[in-house]
Amino acid sequence: MAIDTLRVVGISGSLRKASFNTMALKAAIELAPADMSVEIGEIGDLPLYNSDIQQAGYPASAQRLVDQLAKADAILLVTPEYNYSTTGALKNAIDWISRAQPSHPINGKAVAIMGASMGMLGTARAQYQLRQMLVYLNGNPINKPEVMIAQAQNKFDADGKLTDQPTRDLIAQMMVNLGAFARQLKK
Ligand code: FNR
Repeated sequence: MAIDTLRVVGISGSLRKASFNTMALKAAIELAPADMSVEIGEIGDLPLYNSDIQQAGYPASAQRLVDQLAKADAILLVTPEYNYSTTGALKNAIDWISRAQPSHPINGKAVAIMGASMGMLGTARAQYQLRQMLVYLNGNPINKPEVMIAQAQNKFDADGKLTDQPTRDLIAQMMVNLGAFARQLKK
């Protein structure tokens, strides 16, 4: 079925206020095509995954995120790189999401991945780990463009705006490709 406005939920894997990854997510919101709405999925209030907690009742914070993702046509994951990996916060969120019953909301969805780091590789290692997780989750990651924002400290201004034009162009293209893939999957 054709969809008019694509709904995207974007999650930043960083919890800190001045996060470059949250700034990059906000840039994606700004640069998304007109036929797309992007809202932020919050992960900072999730408990650490523990199946004992789940058995006592799936937490309201996780349910809110799952419901938000369930209504989305596509997902955007924005990851920092911590110790050559994605962050514990984002992994924890994915673990909660993946245990939603009766099904989880990443299954079958188009997913875009990007990330920002202060190093030279722009979260490449963390991003490939997310791609590996998406195999198990049966998500559908777009392949190109890969958005790996290296030396992020030089690419945003004091107000958190992404000022690097090549990176802006890449994010805009990623959002167009995400939209096209999501529409293709919905047909
Ligand atoms: C880092 N950082 C980092 N950078 C990188 O390129 N590769 C890495 O493996 C790591 N490892 C790492 C571990 C931990 C615990 C921290 C706190 C940081 C630096 C990281 O890229 C930088 O702090 C970013 O600014 C984090 O993203 P946000 O919070 O700005 O979105």
